[in-house]
Amino acid sequence: MPTTLDHPALVELLQRAYSAERAAAFAYIGHAGSLRDPAAKVAVRQIEEDEWSHRRQVLVIMRQYGIPISRWYEVKYYAIGRLISASCYVIGWFMPYFFAGRLESGNVCEYFVMMQRFHRLGITEHDTVLYEMGIKEKEHEVYFLEQIKHSRLLPFFERIFSWGRRKSANDVDLDRKYAVPESYRYCASYSGDPETKAEQPVKR
Ligand SMILES: [Fe+2]
Ligand SMILES: [Fe+2]
Repeated sequence: MPTTLDHPALVELLQRAYSAERAAAFAYIGHAGSLRDPAAKVAVRQIEEDEWSHRRQVLVIMRQYGIPISRWYEVKYYAIGRLISASCYVIGWFMPYFFAGRLESGNVCEYFVMMQRFHRLGITEHDTVLYEMGIKEKEHEVYFLEQIKHSRLLPFFERIFSWGRRKSANDVDLDRKYAVPESYRYCASYSGDPETKAEQPVKR
């Protein structure tokens, strides 16, 4: 069945997010497994659960428009997820937290960019789901940063990889959140598509 969504970049973003959510879930299985602290294990397992739930929610949206699962992304992100999962046991304590936080930081805008692209098509019915997923990724980012914010390695890693206490890949602030109807304003300069910049929903 051909997709009924006339926006190739949005279709691609949904397909990638669907596959990348599983990579994230796999990575957190390894991360939780490598941790000794029981409370930290529970927290990372909960984040893993959140990623499986995101994958299910993205699939619901894809099915609604007849968007096929990308075989290529499934294979690629399966391999990436398994590799990261295994590496958590050998790269020490700091790096799994750091790279998880950095990854989450980038994932936040994916969901707000999806919202902007849906708005281009006059579709607002997914706003709440996309908002909740984007905000959840922000909570994940904040959680991971919280774990390493006092590490002496952080300033060094922040300088090289552009993420840490001062740098983030999104402009969401959990203490001063937009409500759902205004949240399309998030990530206005992150989408890469100038025509969707801070796009308001098309009135129908
Ligand atoms: Fe996620
Ligand atoms: Fe996440």
